[in-house]
Amino acid sequence: MKTSRYFEYRTKIDRAYKELKKDYNEARHSYSEMIMRLALIAELKDGSTGTHIVKVAEYCTEIARGMGLPKKDVDYLRYASPLHDVGKLIIPDSILKKKGGLTPEEREIVKKHAQIGAEVFEGSNLNLLKIATMISLTHHERWDGTGYPQGLKGDDIPLFGRIVALADVFDALTSKRPYKRAYGFDEAISIIKEESGTHFDPDVVKSFMKRKKTIRKIWKSKRQIGLFITEQMP
Ligand SMILES: [Fe+2]
Ligand SMILES: [Fe+2]
Repeated sequence: MKTSRYFEYRTKIDRAYKELKKDYNEARHSYSEMIMRLALIAELKDGSTGTHIVKVAEYCTEIARGMGLPKKDVDYLRYASPLHDVGKLIIPDSILKKKGGLTPEEREIVKKHAQIGAEVFEGSNLNLLKIATMISLTHHERWDGTGYPQGLKGDDIPLFGRIVALADVFDALTSKRPYKRAYGFDEAISIIKEESGTHFDPDVVKSFMKRKKTIRKIWKSKRQIGLFITEQMP
């Protein structure tokens, strides 16, 4: 009698545990998916199709691996990097989608997206969003100190910001924009090399070149935005 009651309790506990685990996984998954969908809204507003955030995340992952960063950091960078331009949601369409050149005043307004994006995530207790704050704020800084918004120089720019800076520019170079053609792979690679030590951290460029074979595969691939967005964060 005692034994059958024990098995009865045991079954109930097992069932409750399974349900709790399912709910926990669903909560985690919906949190990561909503973050990625937020990144997607910002990109769609910018007139892109969603491939930019996927490619930036993939290039960042490769650079970080090439630099020997711990897996945990590689993962944080992978899932925080797509949020780099969330601040663009606040920039008026009349400026963001303007055909032809921007006036100096309009250019200053666009630059504000770095600071605005940081304000969106600032104060979060979640590591991923703390990193997103830092990436948003620093992805337009340049190694030589001529970037924005703070004009940080060299190692004063957080490493994740330096990595996203390169991944972001490489994808922009190899993508067609209303004001420019898409550069070929080798052409874009030479521009990155030329800008090592001025725009980009030479160590980040070195790692990018070290992973060139995989970078080329990512560049060629037609990554599905839907697959990336629903990817489970580790
Ligand atoms: Fe940006
Ligand atoms: Fe970008």
